[in-house]
Amino acid sequence: MIRPRRLRATPAMRRLVRETRLHPAELILPIFVREGIQEPLPIASMPGVVQHSLDSMRRAIAEAAELGLGGVMLFGVPEIKDAIGSGATDANGILNVATRAAVAEAGDALVVQTDLCLDEFTDHGHCGVLDAAGRVDNDASLVRYRDMALAQVAAGSQLLGLSGMMDGQVAAVRDALDAAAHPETPLLGYAAKYASAFYGPFRDAVQSSLEGDRRTYQVDPANRREGAREVWLDVEEGADIVMVKPAMSYLDVLADAAADSPVPVWAYQVSGEYSMIEAAAANGWIDRRRAIEESVVSIRRAGADAVLTYFAAEVARWIRS
Ligand code: PBG
Repeated sequence: MIRPRRLRATPAMRRLVRETRLHPAELILPIFVREGIQEPLPIASMPGVVQHSLDSMRRAIAEAAELGLGGVMLFGVPEIKDAIGSGATDANGILNVATRAAVAEAGDALVVQTDLCLDEFTDHGHCGVLDAAGRVDNDASLVRYRDMALAQVAAGSQLLGLSGMMDGQVAAVRDALDAAAHPETPLLGYAAKYASAFYGPFRDAVQSSLEGDRRTYQVDPANRREGAREVWLDVEEGADIVMVKPAMSYLDVLADAAADSPVPVWAYQVSGEYSMIEAAAANGWIDRRRAIEESVVSIRRAGADAVLTYFAAEVARWIRS
């Protein structure tokens, strides 16, 4: 008789036949850095995650390096926002200041990555600039992204995370960097980024001023083929790595990308995915550690070469202990 249970009988046997393993080098920790604060501030909708001061960010990066994480992804929370997101291209803007400090702290231990998008910096909260009619202006936004890319590279960013979902953003930023003699800086295209309710807590974390939604630029959650097309386009435009985001509700899109992409495919376990697990665990409804491990291993199993997750440091600690 064929008995699959033979290979499930003991912990040692299960360990031997396990297909997917987590490693700290494949985990990337997103970090929020808020301008003008001296102490870290908790984020109400993301228990256990904070808005960092520059000092506490340095400590978080030292810890991430110590734990062997693959990288950190920095997000800036500026004090002042305006229509074009001026803080994003200002060398003294919080994200660029934080990047310089992060690179100095990290040394060669991990890859310092930066979010390249205007939403944290605009007073209307959109990922691009608006035209006279109040619509997100794709090509005017690309001009801002080109400048933002140059500012981030000047600050020392080692991987630019293009998360704005403007058409042509990877090609535009690649062109800007190549023209400015930065052919070496790699680009992470947030290729298949969906218009998701699971970004809810993130908007708290970066104090987003968004009214309305991002459905004219992020992908409709109902569309699988369109996600594959976005991945294909980013690869064609020269993305060095592509991303699927969110992760858990989009494992089919992730598996498609993993099957077809010639470049690494990453996934982002987003704020709402984090907070759902934390909320259920806080109520005693699920086993927190098992749920976290299962969620991250499932994202790897579906095909992600690396995972951005707010659980990165904790999971790395578990792996190492
Ligand atoms: C855009 C950006 C967002 C997230 C990462 N980059 C927000 C959005 O598209 O609304 C969400 C990440 C998360 O929810 O954890 N800069």
